[in-house]
Amino acid sequence: MMPKLRHMLRDDDITHAEQKQILDLGMKFWKNRYYSRPFEGPQGVAILFDKPSTRTRTSFSVGVAELGGYPLVIDKSGSQLGRGEPVEDTSRVLSRMNSAIVWRTFGQDLIERMAQYSSVPVINALTDDFHPCQILADFLTIAQHCKSTDLKGKTIAYVGDSANNMAHSYLLGGAVAGMNVRIAGPLGFLPREDIADDARARAAETGGSILVTTDPQEAVKEADCVFTDTWVSMGEEEDYELKSNLFWDYQVNAELMSLAKPDALFQHCLPAYRGKEVTSEIIDGKQSVVWDEAENRLHAQKALLTWLVAQQRGDESLLGETA
Ligand code: CP
Ligand code: NVA
Repeated sequence: MMPKLRHMLRDDDITHAEQKQILDLGMKFWKNRYYSRPFEGPQGVAILFDKPSTRTRTSFSVGVAELGGYPLVIDKSGSQLGRGEPVEDTSRVLSRMNSAIVWRTFGQDLIERMAQYSSVPVINALTDDFHPCQILADFLTIAQHCKSTDLKGKTIAYVGDSANNMAHSYLLGGAVAGMNVRIAGPLGFLPREDIADDARARAAETGGSILVTTDPQEAVKEADCVFTDTWVSMGEEEDYELKSNLFWDYQVNAELMSLAKPDALFQHCLPAYRGKEVTSEIIDGKQSVVWDEAENRLHAQKALLTWLVAQQRGDESLLGETA
């Protein structure tokens, strides 16, 4: 294995086989929290937040510690980046002292600049456009339930704000997995065309398919897993009243869920707004796997970090039997 610096900035930065390898590794970490310890030393991993977080902050902090490393969590208000220091300078400094950089920020262009100047792997912990770590956790949750990381042919449906980071990541991540991805949202809140096109191109290679529709029933019909997300993402709080009234037809409730397969799973990246994008009956009901999903952030991100440093070091042994 030749050393190669890789980053995870969007869901299609990895191939179908690589995604499966990361999910296989996630399964190993699920069964054994200390399966691999690539950051023993301890080595630092910089974890930066420009937006709030509970799950991402906890799972990366605990995850890096369990990988033998030191999680250096930096909030925007406490860093020079927050005062306007260039991303390029921050990247060069952080990568001199850390083994990886994890960043939750606004524009995708920012994390691309971070990666361009970094000598260590950079992970997107959510931008306005994508949330690839969440998708790995969500797919790991499906894999645990169907007892296989081969997700080809599974049908997933996402309903709600389809112009947001989650919708975009389901499109790309699902296409990489070879899934049938269905996305439903109201006009004006459908995925960006270039991202939907990238997903279609990738799906053509993996045997998956892409459907973008305004019809939530069409999307959910016979699905293996139904997803939704908040109607108002971080940074859009001012649009709350305006936006939250546009999505009522896309609420995941018992009636909509009944169109999916009888044993379909329900997932939500959280935080959730009961009575808005999902009813309590569904999120707290028996098809919901949202707590497994939240826990899987830990296992999936440890797998991703381990996989990325294995590539960078050219050290296959870090991957164990999944190599
Ligand atoms: N799902 C998710 O990313 O949650 P946090 O915003 O709490 O990190
Ligand atoms: N779309 C949501 C996801 C939160 C994890 C947001 O960006 O706020």
